[in-house]
Parts: sequence; structure tokens; C-alpha cells
Amino acid sequence: MTAHFKPEEYEVGYNIPAAVGMDEADIQTPCLVLDLDALERNIKKMGQFAKDMGVRHRVHGKMHKSVDVALLQEKLGDSCGVCCQKVSEAEAFARGGIKDVLVSNQVTDPAKIDRLARMPKLGARTIVCVDNVDNVADLSAGAQKHGTTIECLVEIDCGAGRCGVTTTPEVLEIARAIAAAPGLKFSGIQAYQGAMQHMDKYEDRKEKIDIAVAMVKDAVEALKAEGMECDIVGGGGTGSYYFEGTSGVYNELQCGSYAFMDADYGRILDKDGNRIDQGEWENALFILTTVMSHVKANLAVCDAGLKAQSVDSGLPVVFGRDDVKYFKCSDEHGVIEDPDGALKINDKLKLVPGHCDPTCNVHDWYVGVRNGKVECLWPVTARGLAY
Ligand SMILES: Cc1ncc(COP(=O)(O)O)c(C=O)c1O
Repeated sequence: MTAHFKPEEYEVGYNIPAAVGMDEADIQTPCLVLDLDALERNIKKMGQFAKDMGVRHRVHGKMHKSVDVALLQEKLGDSCGVCCQKVSEAEAFARGGIKDVLVSNQVTDPAKIDRLARMPKLGARTIVCVDNVDNVADLSAGAQKHGTTIECLVEIDCGAGRCGVTTTPEVLEIARAIAAAPGLKFSGIQAYQGAMQHMDKYEDRKEKIDIAVAMVKDAVEALKAEGMECDIVGGGGTGSYYFEGTSGVYNELQCGSYAFMDADYGRILDKDGNRIDQGEWENALFILTTVMSHVKANLAVCDAGLKAQSVDSGLPVVFGRDDVKYFKCSDEHGVIEDPDGALKINDKLKLVPGHCDPTCNVHDWYVGVRNGKVECLWPVTARGLAY
């Protein structure tokens, strides 16, 4: 979509919230707004962190699902490629011009394996995670059918409690099977500790990652002893990248949320005890919303309810305002405490979403804003793609 998309051909209407060049004040709501200056600073900063730690950064595209954002991360953050969680997302990124795509997940369904095996024909290095020996044979058959190569990472469950094997002998068994399978290439290890990313305290997160690093190190060394080098040892997120990046074991980070930030991540603390959205990262993503009712003196009602966001990780926070508080929502309504009656009908507010990934997935567009003007409209390329 991105390659053929010409923003100047679109007018603001029922499915387009803004037009390039218009004032920020005229954007239709509810919609996603990106503060482009903040986004660019976040992207550059993480790129520099990775460089300083001597590791690559494969940005997690499941967060934004946007080819345009992924290309910006390549350009400004020197990312080496993207991760995504679904074959449909991987196809969207590959079609959009991303040349190195890791599905950081298991692909087992035969039809999806077939699609994955075609991806190299789109010009993308194609990598997938494996935690089951039987899956190796199926992936190999798919790659041979299409005459392509699928690279495989053995996934270790290093504490997230989802996909992945938990012992080095299991890693070795799967790695040997991959190395012996036609059409497949053993490329390393996937080990993302997802369960600790949102723990408030830096020391608590470090404790969990130390365990993950020890597990991964053991596996990497055992593989090496058998002559299997890991091109990729991947993992790490916004709450932990400095641990994996300096571990001497991981060589590829996979951060996603750092680029946009959200209210749930924002409250976790850095090593000095500061919230990570107050110094380390900036809020770049907002749900722009309009006040549409204020019948009760102390309650304002805005147009961003459940259909404009995900509240699985908590309600949104009104950006830059201590005097008002978003406190409940239903499908199309957000209710805001306004004790001083400060808000007026048609006032616009920026909400920091509770959880950025699933919030982005329910919108079609990012409206990029700089200096009060709409600078770009980016489609949420893989919006809703869940298969
Ligand atoms: C496999 C994998 N890697 C990395 C991440 C890191 O993302 P974030 O930086 O948003 O925590 C995630 C997020 O869920 C993930 O699933």
C-alpha cells in the first residue's frame, strides 16, 4: 500500500482523518497522532544505544505494523531488519521493502508455511523460530517446494512462559535437525524474556534477565562445541535492552515500544529510579480525541472509547494535564474527570494509550505532526492482520 499511496490524492473524509498540510487543530478524531520530532529522537537514541553496545537492532514491527515507521527506523536508527509475529505481517513488511524479516514466533500451519517459504521471492531474508522437531521437516518441505531458504532460530523459553524449549539438550536436538534439513539454515537462537519487561524496578528486571542470559549462554556454548555458530542471538525489549545488549551473549535486540511509548511502559523505572517516559523515552504516540459533551459540571465526555484503543494494560492518560483524568470508557465514549470544569466542547486532548501495540492495530492511519501541522499520513500497513 505504501508504495502506491499518494497522500495528496486523499481528502479528509469518513476514513481519512487528516490531510497533509492542514493544521493539527483540524484533524478528525479519534485518531492516532505521531509527534514526529519525538519519534525521530526515540529512534535515533535507540540506534545509538545499540551501536554503543556493539549489537544490532532488529526493531519489533508488531508494535506499529507500519512499513513507513520501519523504514524510518532503518534510516535514522540503523536497524538491521524487523521482527514480526505473524506471516501476514511479515508479508506486509517484505512487500513494503524491508529486506530482512524475522517472524519471532512459530509457524506450523501448512498454508502459512507455504506463504513463509515464498517470502524470499519478495526479496526478503526470511527467518522463523522453531521449538519443535516435527516443525523442522514441514518448514524444510515448504522451502524445497519453492526453491528458497528459510533461516531458523531455535526458540528458548527463558522466562516468558510461552513458546520455546527450556533445556540445552532440546536446543541441540532441534538445531541439529535444522542444520541437516534441505532448504533450511540454522541461524541461531531466539530468547525473549517477555514476562519481566513491565516489572517496575530495574533490579527486579535485571534479576530475571540474568537467569535468561545464563540459559542462553549455556545453549550458545553447547552449539559452538558442536560446530554450530549462532549468527543471531536475539531478544530484548524496551524494559531490558541494556541487559541483553551488554551481556556479551546476545547480539541482536528486538525493541518495539520504545519508539512510541505508552502509559503502561512509561511508569517502569530506570536504574536511577526515574520513570522511563521522563528522560529515557518520549511519548510520540497519542490518541487525539475531542470533547463532545459536558453536561455534568465535573465530567467531560470525549470521542475515544474502547473502539479507539486497547485498555488491557490500563486506561489512557491525558498528556500534559494534571487537572483532568480519563477514568472510564465504553465503546464510543471516554469519560474524563474535570473537577475544575476546565474543558469545553470541541477541546482536543492527546491521550497516551495504555498499551501501544493493540491500540495501533485498531486504526488505519498515523497522522504525523510537526510544529502544529500535519506533515504525513502513514497507513497502519498490517492493521488487523492476525493470521
Ligand atoms: C518476541 C518479542 N521480542 C521483542 C519484544 C519487545 O517489544 P517491546 O520493546 O515493546 O517490549 C516483544 C514484545 O512483545 C516480543 O514479543
